[in-house]
Amino acid sequence: MATPENKLAFDGGWAYDPAPESTDHISLKKRYGLFIGGEFVAPENSRYFDTINPANEQKLARVAEASEADVDRAVKAARAAYSGVWSRMPAKERGKYIYRIARIMQERAREFAAIESLDGGKPIRESRDIDVPLAAAHFFYYAGWADKLDYAFPGQRAKPLGVAGQIIPWNFPLLMAAWKIAPALATGNTVVLKPAETTPLTALKLAEVIADAGLPPGVVNIVTGAGKTGAAIVNHPGVDKIAFTGSTNVGRIIQRALAGTRKKYTLELGGKAANVVFADAAIDQAVEGIVNGIFFNQGHVCCAGSRLLVQESVADEVVAKLKERMETLIVGDPLDKNTDIGAINSSMQLEKIQSYLKIGKEEGGEMHQSACRLPKKGYWCRPTIFTGVAQSNRVVQEEIFGPVLAIQTFRSFDEALAKANNTPYGLSGGVWTDKGAKIFKMTQGLRAGVVWANTFNKFDPTSPFGGYKESGVGREGGLHGLDAYVKLGAR
Ligand code: NAI
Ligand code: MG
Repeated sequence: MATPENKLAFDGGWAYDPAPESTDHISLKKRYGLFIGGEFVAPENSRYFDTINPANEQKLARVAEASEADVDRAVKAARAAYSGVWSRMPAKERGKYIYRIARIMQERAREFAAIESLDGGKPIRESRDIDVPLAAAHFFYYAGWADKLDYAFPGQRAKPLGVAGQIIPWNFPLLMAAWKIAPALATGNTVVLKPAETTPLTALKLAEVIADAGLPPGVVNIVTGAGKTGAAIVNHPGVDKIAFTGSTNVGRIIQRALAGTRKKYTLELGGKAANVVFADAAIDQAVEGIVNGIFFNQGHVCCAGSRLLVQESVADEVVAKLKERMETLIVGDPLDKNTDIGAINSSMQLEKIQSYLKIGKEEGGEMHQSACRLPKKGYWCRPTIFTGVAQSNRVVQEEIFGPVLAIQTFRSFDEALAKANNTPYGLSGGVWTDKGAKIFKMTQGLRAGVVWANTFNKFDPTSPFGGYKESGVGREGGLHGLDAYVKLGAR
């Protein structure tokens, strides 16, 4: 049997046949304007940029670049909708609109999933089974809170803040839009949202859904552009709250810009999570968890398990099994249902990852990659591990945001905890053990917002999410996520 290019031939000589998701059911415009005041409008300076498919470097669409004046238009539309309609509407009516968004998104789930994989490079299996269903689940969940805020904040009255400016990254484009928009709407705020410049398409599709759901014009505005457009949102005096997810560097810039203003903010930033595997763990299960923790979504995950801390007595076994498993991971076409690891999101991100591979080797780490073939076009990185690294190494301390795992060993519980906590970040962590007591001790000692036990990368709209230290400020998701969008007063 012929081995299709970029497919892995296993030892026995067989390979999976290609199983690509079709794209004939999706509709993309050649060019997208800005979604302001309930309709798509041209940017004032007529500037557009390309968004490409990182798996083949082909252009998917042209997208408007919003200037300061465009952002100002969007904020004014959001303000008018806030004062005129949305903040006055009975809460249960608001809820109905949010339910409607969720249902339309479910109806168009297949189209959303394919576009997410085309624009961002993630495997269709993930966009289909994780990103899109979870995005709809967030709208359903927060729709339910809209008329129950009195129960969310007993004895107090929760009032909306006004206009929320929201800036999101490229790793979970639709899901991040849902995380941001759903709680803002449920609490009576209006929104100006900016997707990332490499992955704007599902947010623009969401704009179409929002229009189809009949939301009053201006309640949600979606402006596209890069950092300058984001900064224009952050610095606009008419914005009452900023919600940002992205790099710690930009998070710092935003925090400085907001210092001394009345704007409320939440920041979800980077991470360098440790998966801590004790000798008494179910080893095969742990290996699956490690693989999921770092290779899921090409490691483009802020809460990725990018470090492995493994107890010395089982280290050889775990690393051997991990290497074996890495050989079976299929890297290639994001639209193929067999693909485990899709394309790296952009050439810039690939360069960043590659520079860390070089740094890791220069620092004395031993690098191992799977032997898979990579497609010729597009941006790709083989699953990679580093052993023999020290706590002070940059590949252990810094966020790489790619499929690169740094492996260290430990002997005692205290050593594991100390090493796990020894980075500037504190977003998430994982613990693998047979003993409930160790799980509780570890979860109490880890300075991380989310800790998974005997699993990894599980998300649910009811769970709050957020970081310690340089991983961010505030919580999103669940009941906590409502708090970020209200001011509380007496009944
Ligand atoms: P970034 O932080 O620059 O981009 C995130 C969002 O912020 C995008 O929408 C971008 O247009 C916007 N932005 C950029 N500069 C801004 C500014 N001055 N003011 C307001 N908004 C601004 O992230 P980037 O450059 O795409 O990725 C660089 C690194 O950041 C990655 O390698 C990764 O380590 C980390 N990252 C972390 C994420 C997370 O979820 N924690 C998500 C994306 C990136
Ligand atoms: Mg793209």
